[in-house]
Amino acid sequence: MPGVPEGLPDPRRHPGHADQRGRALDSAPTAVILAGGQGTRLRPLTLARPKPIVPLLNVPFLHYQLALLRQHGIRDIVLACSYRVESIRAQLGDGRDLGVRLRYAVEAEPLGTAGGVRNAAEPTGGRVVVLNGDVLTDVDLSQMVQSHVARGAQASIYLTPVEDPTPYGLVETDADGRILRFVEKPSREAITTNTINAGIYLLNRELLDLIPRGQVVSMERDFFPGLLARRIPFFGFVARAYWLDIGSPEQYRQAQVDLLNGAVATRLTPRGTRSDNVWVGETVAMASSAVVSGPAVLGSGITLEPEVSVGPFTVLGDGVSIGRGSRLEGAILWDHVQVGEAAVLRECVVGSRALIGKGARVGPGAVVSENEVVP
Ligand code: GDD
Ligand code: MG
Repeated sequence: MPGVPEGLPDPRRHPGHADQRGRALDSAPTAVILAGGQGTRLRPLTLARPKPIVPLLNVPFLHYQLALLRQHGIRDIVLACSYRVESIRAQLGDGRDLGVRLRYAVEAEPLGTAGGVRNAAEPTGGRVVVLNGDVLTDVDLSQMVQSHVARGAQASIYLTPVEDPTPYGLVETDADGRILRFVEKPSREAITTNTINAGIYLLNRELLDLIPRGQVVSMERDFFPGLLARRIPFFGFVARAYWLDIGSPEQYRQAQVDLLNGAVATRLTPRGTRSDNVWVGETVAMASSAVVSGPAVLGSGITLEPEVSVGPFTVLGDGVSIGRGSRLEGAILWDHVQVGEAAVLRECVVGSRALIGKGARVGPGAVVSENEVVP
């Protein structure tokens, strides 16, 4: 391993994770969260809310990533954004409430995943953790840093197994974990392994010099193959952890089922008070004949009329009202949705202020847009 320049902390002695009190050590890496995509596959939901802040159990998605980073002592975080940055900023602010320091690096035109990182971080000393802004995970980042240092890596990728690698970046490694090949969105014929890029990287910052400033550059298609061609020490970090890309409606709903099931280790809890398996916000008006079976999350200002049945894995945003005799199960309703009488909603997602008419049947798998009227 090369020597450490004078004046910089020696990463071999300071693996960059939190001390016992959860505070960042001097050498804790900074983080860049890639949050500048258009969220196309999550339309129509992302027409109303950009993907980084779609609600998960009524909490903006990026809160989960910020909580994970903070848990591992990483508090200096830059959001690499371009698409609809103002609505993201309105939700997340400067991160103070979440115990982190959040800054925004805005791309006038999207610069791609590597271009976005280069725009957000300088190639000076230390390391940077990069996260795709749409993965829900409880991976042990401190362990990832330790493994990176122990192996003398300059770049590490968190790898996870999936059934079908075709929508992801396939990553082949040798027995020591060294990365041999990276194939973004492989065709069926190109599948040689089920391990994929989980969208979290640890990079020695000087590698960012390989990314030209202000140009459109892809991490997956340009930068990673470039590291391999240069024979830069580049390793996969395989961990047993929860992992899911929330970028499609079904995965977005599944993430909430998994959170409600306790499959994801997170320090975030839904707002409101918990009784049994149900979190309830303030001023909920619930008829005595309405039944709620958890796990479920109810926001504030909710009305449940008589004989309503709210089944497991349902999430109701603030101001939702459900008409007499309607039944919901596995339904995710954003703020201020109104459901008429005797409707049935199953395993579906309904955008803010949508109106679901009397007797309507919605789902499984349906997505209703913001303000949409379902007769
Ligand atoms: N700042 C910025 N600028 N961010 C961007 C840009 C850009 O031009 N383009 C995409 N992003 C962000 C997205 O907002 C998202 O958070 C992240 O980069 C990844 O983009 P996706 O569009 O979600 O990519 P993907 O899911 O198809 O594939 C990526 O993630 C997989 C894991 O979920 C790749 O990294 C795959 O290799 C990986 O397996
Ligand atoms: Mg994605």
